[in-house]
This record gives sequence, structure tokens and C-alpha cells, in this order.
Amino acid sequence: MEKESPDASVEVMSNKQVIYREEVQYSLTETHLEVRTSSERLKADKDSGTISVKNLYLACDSYNLNLIKYFTPLGSPIHGYGVARVLESGHPNFKTGDLVWGITRWEEYSLITAPDTCVKIEHSDVPLSSYTGRLLGMPGMTAYAGFFEVCSPKKGETVFISAAAGAVGQLVGQFTKLLGCYVVGSASSKEKVDLLKNKFGFDDAFNYKEELDLDAALKRCFPGGIDIYFDNVGGKMLDAVLLYMKLHGQITVCGMISQYNLKQHEGVHNLMNLVLKRGSDGRFPGVQLLSSLPEVP
Ligand SMILES: NC(=O)c1ccc[n+]([C@@H]2O[C@H](COP(=O)([O-])OP(=O)(O)OC[C@H]3O[C@@H](n4cnc5c(N)ncnc54)[C@H](OP(=O)(O)O)[C@@H]3O)[C@@H](O)[C@H]2O)c1
Repeated sequence: MEKESPDASVEVMSNKQVIYREEVQYSLTETHLEVRTSSERLKADKDSGTISVKNLYLACDSYNLNLIKYFTPLGSPIHGYGVARVLESGHPNFKTGDLVWGITRWEEYSLITAPDTCVKIEHSDVPLSSYTGRLLGMPGMTAYAGFFEVCSPKKGETVFISAAAGAVGQLVGQFTKLLGCYVVGSASSKEKVDLLKNKFGFDDAFNYKEELDLDAALKRCFPGGIDIYFDNVGGKMLDAVLLYMKLHGQITVCGMISQYNLKQHEGVHNLMNLVLKRGSDGRFPGVQLLSSLPEVP
């Protein structure tokens, strides 16, 4: 990125951008994107409710694929979470020089038309890049809100987390342990399983690629059943977990990464268990969708 010039006018400025060029059907490849330089006018007029920003850090999360596929118009810079400095403000909550965290675009300078999706950074005593990382960035917010606000866990409960070594999963696992729950995670390699058990404090973990029978693995780890399933993957794992949920258990659907790139989504066959093991209020199936994120403008 170019060196920041604090008093530069952003009305007309060379702006390097990553453009969503070709529609993604399944997996994202380089051919779907294109780097361009634009010189469009990016002025946040007084009282317009917009802010113009210089993007300082951009996050590269699994969730970016969804932000591209479902929220970025073709021909526009791709949407993503980032840290930026306000250059001009037409919004009462922001002033020039403020640091903000939230949904911006993959480009050097952006005009943010819905700044309410951004949070002002008050604590700059940590590296600003931390706001695009695991703890203070979007995965951290997702893990915290997903576990404490959506799962409503209680001490002593049994918790299963898929994609447990990922950015969201490893934090949910650590929150779970801090609360005094029993936690098991699944991951795709011996190294990740070791990390979960020996570094992140999981009570147990298994390699879902080596377990030929997911039912058997879940039965071994949860002989008394699962109180909370924090689902990051969907698909076969969700199907297997449905059989091992306790009565009044809670499934929090955070993501379904095993399905994102498939041409044909896998079916889930054990959905009847949602009725048999109904949610804690006795009326609804115990599934909650996690939508910790602001609406994308
Ligand atoms: N609802 C929300 O607000 C929200 C916000 C953020 C993220 N999410 C979702 O949460 C999930 C985790 O995100 P993250 O940021 O933790 O991602 P991450 O750090 O990139 O980790 C994703 C992990 O998913 C596993 N994975 C990848 N492809 C898979 C497949 N085909 N089948 C099974 N597992 C697969 C991999 O772990 P292994 O190598 O161990 O398989 C990978 O390391 C994603 O589904 C994401 O879309 C939702």
C-alpha cells in the first residue's frame, strides 16, 4: 500500500483494488479476482452519513468466501473485515483520525456508506493487526458471542466442536474449558489433534479423517451424550452428532465449511432427532443459527 498521507484529499486518488471479476460457483480461484487501480471520487460529504477511510489491515478468514459469494457485487472491490483510519467523516460518530474495525473493502481507500457496521477502536495499546486476527478480530467475536450468547453453556456440560483447531473452534474450546465444561474437538491431522489436547486444553480430540466410523468416535468420547454441539462443518459430522445429542441439547450452527465448495450439498438424514431431543424450552428443536455479524451493506 502507498504511504499514508494524513492530509491527502481522497476526492481523486490512485486506489489499488481487488475486484470480484467472475462469479464463484464453488471454490474461489485467482481467476475470479483481479487487481485494478481506480481513481474514482471517494469523498465523504458533510452529513452524508458516510466515512472515507484508508485501509490499514485486511483479514483473510474462511468467512471471506461467503462475503464474496453472497455480498460483493460483480465488478466491485471484495468485502472483508479490516482495520482502517478515518480520512473524512460525514457521520456524527466518527471524526478524522479515528481508527475503526469492521466491514470494509479490499482496496487502499474505501468509502464506507454504512459506518454503523464499524466499531471505533478505543484500545490501541495492542498491535492494530490483532483486530484482524483470532482474538480481537471477527473469529474472536464469533467464538465469544457464539459460545456465551448462543450456546448458553453451563458448568459441567459436555461440548463437541468441529473444525476445532480453526480460528473460531480453538477459541470456543478454550472458553469452554474456562467455564468448567468437558470438551472434545475434531480436526484433520495428528498435529492438530495434539495441539487441541496438549496446548488448547481440550479433554479429548479425534482425527475425523482417520475415524472410519464417526458414530463410534462420538460414542467413545461422549458415552453419556452431547449437551452442546458447536458446528463449524455441517455435512456428515452434523448427521452423526444428531444421534448423540442429549435430550434438550443445543446445536449452534456457526458454519458449514464442508459444504461450501460442493456442487451438490450432502443430505442430513438424522434430522428427526431434532424433534425427539427437542430444545430446552420443550417447543423448538435445539438448533440456533449464529449470526454474530452485522448486516453487510
Ligand atoms: N456465523 C458466523 O458469524 C461465522 C463467523 C466466522 C466464521 N464462521 C464459520 O465458522 C467456521 C470456522 O471458521 P474459522 O474462521 O475458524 O475457519 P478457519 O480458521 O479457516 O478454519 C477452518 C477449518 O475448517 C476445516 N475444514 C476445511 N474444509 C473442510 C471440509 N471440507 N470438511 C471439514 N472441515 C473442513 C479445516 O480444519 P481441519 O483441517 O481440521 O479439517 C480448517 O482449518 C466456518 O464454517 C466459517 O464459515 C461463521
